[in-house]
Amino acid sequence: MEIIHVSAECYPVAKAGGLGDVVGALPKYQCKAGDIAKVVMPMYRTKFLYENEWDVDFKGSANLGNWYFDFTVIKERTNKLGFDLYLVDINGLLDRQKIYGYDDDAERFTAFQIAVVNWISNWEHRPDIVHCHDHHTALIPFMMQYCYAYQFLANVPTVLTIHNGQYQGWMGWNKSTYIPSWDLWKRGMLDWAGNINPLASGVKCAGKVTTVSWSYMEELRVSANGLEQLFEYEKGKCIGILNGIDNEVWDPSTDTYLDHHFSIKSVTKGKEKNKEILCEQFDLDASKPLFVFIGRLVGEKAAEILPDAIKTAIFNTQGNASFLILGSGDTSVEWAFQQMAGEFKGIFNAVIGYDEKLSHKMYAGADFLLMPSRVEPCGLNQMYAMRYGTVPIVRSTGGLKDTVLDMGDFEGYGIRFDQATVHDIDYSIGRGVSVYQDKKHMEWMRKKMMSIDHSWEGTVNQYKEVYLSLK
Ligand code: ADP
Ligand code: GLC
Repeated sequence: MEIIHVSAECYPVAKAGGLGDVVGALPKYQCKAGDIAKVVMPMYRTKFLYENEWDVDFKGSANLGNWYFDFTVIKERTNKLGFDLYLVDINGLLDRQKIYGYDDDAERFTAFQIAVVNWISNWEHRPDIVHCHDHHTALIPFMMQYCYAYQFLANVPTVLTIHNGQYQGWMGWNKSTYIPSWDLWKRGMLDWAGNINPLASGVKCAGKVTTVSWSYMEELRVSANGLEQLFEYEKGKCIGILNGIDNEVWDPSTDTYLDHHFSIKSVTKGKEKNKEILCEQFDLDASKPLFVFIGRLVGEKAAEILPDAIKTAIFNTQGNASFLILGSGDTSVEWAFQQMAGEFKGIFNAVIGYDEKLSHKMYAGADFLLMPSRVEPCGLNQMYAMRYGTVPIVRSTGGLKDTVLDMGDFEGYGIRFDQATVHDIDYSIGRGVSVYQDKKHMEWMRKKMMSIDHSWEGTVNQYKEVYLSLK
């Protein structure tokens, strides 16, 4: 089976969050399982582009409204990632360093999608599945079915995976001319609440819709940033498939970012050594339990209540815990963390920015990982943490609920709470500080978590079933 994944991110080419991790891993494991999976994404100006060799695969041209543009599709020469990787270059739109956050993102990603469909329509054969990820690629199922130029792709099955339903790519109807000449009777397939809504369009037009955990699938019918009724109506074609993690990239016994490798057997000693180095680097006391947070500093992650929650915990635990933050996002939260690093020297520290290497060192050296997320479609951090023997402290939502069992439950190994409030977070940190004193219990939980299988090998079959149901 030949599957072409279309995405805005793919690790290690370009990553802003978990979407990149998933699109960098899922195709690799699909290829290992015997299918042909490929990835096509925008050609941003990233390090990966300059450090690798490429062949030109296709040159084409198209229109975005009145704007005529040329595009080039290049292919990575060595199959380095374990799957064929294609990048689409559109000068003036995609040739930027960052993935998102530009005023013309609507134009950038619409032009990208047009180029992709144009490219696929020029293949000598048809792929078996076009698999789109999130709103940046969610207009493709519509284009394949209702744009006159691409209608001979109408029978190619499409799948849309929703990694985050909060962002939908809304555009005013004044931008409808961007979409190549289409059947105007199908206006309803683009519209939601008076706007062009790419995510809603993808849900309506794709053959199957998946989300990245079972609980998130259910939650979308109740809370989906305005699309609740759509998910209720389309529930027959929607399915939750829990993400896996790339056990080759995330392996504490081989991870090249770590100073000390460890396995289940050597977890206690191994984590201790990694923790010592981390604490020394950030001026923290390694004899105290270390709580870390890694992620985007945004409302979805409940990042803005973390400063108050941690201050309360520092007070209530009488300074008997250390905290380290790695993240970037809302400037007010960044500022609050920087202030705290000055105020609570030796107890609290924060790195504002994005640092892949440090994140690995933190998963390895920390005792606890905080994830108070308000919305978490799957969450990979908690799974990485568990693979590195770090106890996740999570709010019971989405994928966090599906992957973490509270230590108060039978054979439980994590800490769960219900509300994204200062009280619940502080209380959960308190539970962490108490269990940390019980070395035997900590070791049991670490070993238990590390033995859980979150690998993609188990998950690719579920996608295969979805694809086969569309044939
Ligand atoms: P989301 O995609 O919503 O941000 P996930 O938990 O699915 O959340 O994935 C986040 C991914 O991004 C993980 O691989 C995490 O380690 C990484 N990450 C997030 N913020 C940072 C950061 N500041 N530095 C390094 N890695 C980060
Ligand atoms: C999104 C979600 C996150 C999920 C990731 C990968 O970024 O916010 O919960 O883990 O996609 O699917």
